Amino acid sequence: MYRSLLFVSIVLLLALAACGGGGQSAPAGGSSPAGDAGNGKKLFTSTSMGKNNAPGCTTCHAVGGQGGQVGPDLSHVATDGAAIVKSPDYKGKAQDAPGYLRESIVDPNAYVVKGFSAGIMYENYGKDLADQDISDLAAYLMTLK
Ligand code: HEC
Repeated sequence: MYRSLLFVSIVLLLALAACGGGGQSAPAGGSSPAGDAGNGKKLFTSTSMGKNNAPGCTTCHAVGGQGGQVGPDLSHVATDGAAIVKSPDYKGKAQDAPGYLRESIVDPNAYVVKGFSAGIMYENYGKDLADQDISDLAAYLMTLK
C-alpha cells in the first residue's frame, strides 16, 4: 500500500517537473523565446485562448477589415508600434517594436493608444498564456507592417 502511494507521488512529481515553468512569462522587453508567426495568427484569430479562456484578440481588434472595433485596428501595428516606442509620449519599458508589441499584450496599460481608454483590453494575457504563446502573438503582429 505505502509502496504504491510512493510510486504515485513520484510519478506526480515527475509530471509536475516536466510541466514546470511553462506558464511563466518574461517581463516585457526582456529575453523571450523566438516567436512562430503562423501559430501567433492562429491564436490571434481564435475565439478564446489560455487556461482561463481569455477572449480572442479579434473580439476587439480588426486586421484587414476582419474583427472588432473596441480596440485599435492592428493592420499596421508593427509600423505604428515602431513609431510609438520612439515618441516622446511613450513612457513604457520597451526599446523597439517587438518589445512594444509584447508589452502591449502583457501590460496593456503601459501605453494607452490615443483615442482609447485604459482598462478595456483584457489584462491577464501575461498570466494566462505561456511565454511561447505571447512570443508567437508578438511575432505575428510584427508581420503587420
Ligand atoms: C476586450 C477588448 C480587447 C481584447 C480582447 C484585446 N485587446 Fe488589445 N487593445 C484593446 C484596447 C481598448 C486597446 C487600446 C488601449 C490600450 O492601449 O490599452 C488595445 C491595444 C492593443 C495594442 C496596442 C495597439 C497600438 O496601435 O499600439 C496591441 C498590440 C494589442 N492591443 C494587441 C492585442 C492582442 C494581441 C490581443 C489578444 C491576445 C488583444 N489585444 C486583445 C482592447 C482589447
